[in-house]
Amino acid sequence: MSHLGYAAGMDSFQATIDADGRIEPRDAMPDGYRKTLIRQIAQHAHSEIIGMQPEGNWISRAPSLRRKAILMAKVQDEAGHGLYLYAAAETLGVDRADVLDLLHSGKQKYSSIFNYPTLTWADIGAIGWLVDGAAIVNQVPLCRCSYGPYARAMVRVCKEESFHQRQGFEILYTLCNGTPEQKAMAQDALDRWWWPSLMMFGPPDSASTHSEQSMAWGIKRHSNDELRQRFVDMTVPQADVLGLRVPDDGLSYDEEAGHYRFSEPDYTELYDVVKGNGPCNQERLAHRVKAHEDGAWVREAAAAYAEKQALKEAAA
Ligand SMILES: [Fe+2]
Ligand SMILES: [Fe+2]
Repeated sequence: MSHLGYAAGMDSFQATIDADGRIEPRDAMPDGYRKTLIRQIAQHAHSEIIGMQPEGNWISRAPSLRRKAILMAKVQDEAGHGLYLYAAAETLGVDRADVLDLLHSGKQKYSSIFNYPTLTWADIGAIGWLVDGAAIVNQVPLCRCSYGPYARAMVRVCKEESFHQRQGFEILYTLCNGTPEQKAMAQDALDRWWWPSLMMFGPPDSASTHSEQSMAWGIKRHSNDELRQRFVDMTVPQADVLGLRVPDDGLSYDEEAGHYRFSEPDYTELYDVVKGNGPCNQERLAHRVKAHEDGAWVREAAAAYAEKQALKEAAA
């Protein structure tokens, strides 16, 4: 692109951002904007597919046929979310195979929450309720992200996430209205998943490095701490309905502010899990790499078929 063409492209990019419009794949965009989105969308896609593992672990052990069918649908949805998102990343000029390589070699991350184990059936409830609940809080504002393909993918993803959140809540509701042992299992799951869920919103604003530029570009609409607060405000009343105790002695309702006050999670744990030292990091990645290798024949067959079709078309 000529210098003049480049400058005009950047002007029209900024004008679109200022007018709260959408940037589309063929539009000019700053290199940093493209790179930021590729990284964010790819890591989001990785989180969706790695997130299938902790729950997939329970499909064969779900307590009834109904629960099994629901959980299978939910885990399949997550695969679908991964597909939409890898496709959205590809509109920015990257190849899906390369992006997957970055995941498999550990160069790109996925949400740390999926490095925790699912020890009991109640964990499946807690994941749906808390993890998908936190995902909704994170993703609803992304429906207004300035990059069109990402924003549009999020609309459908969010609808499915709200089904996931309710199925998790319903699992816990059933347990909480069951035997004392079942209720204790639900409480134990909340005790283990509460703090990692709060950490899903990322480091505190005071330590967040990418936020400011992403806000200016209309990729991010709210700060990590704002979203964390929104999640706590939404979730604590739901814990009350379940009759469960949020494991935070510092939790209280601030009438005047209309918000719950809560304790800070231990972010050193977050940084440690991000670095690869969580309870399941190695297991998750090894499983993913094996699934990718086991699926090589499918990719090869699809490519051979496409080639054959193309030859046929060329001949006709
Ligand atoms: Fe999802
Ligand atoms: Fe989900």
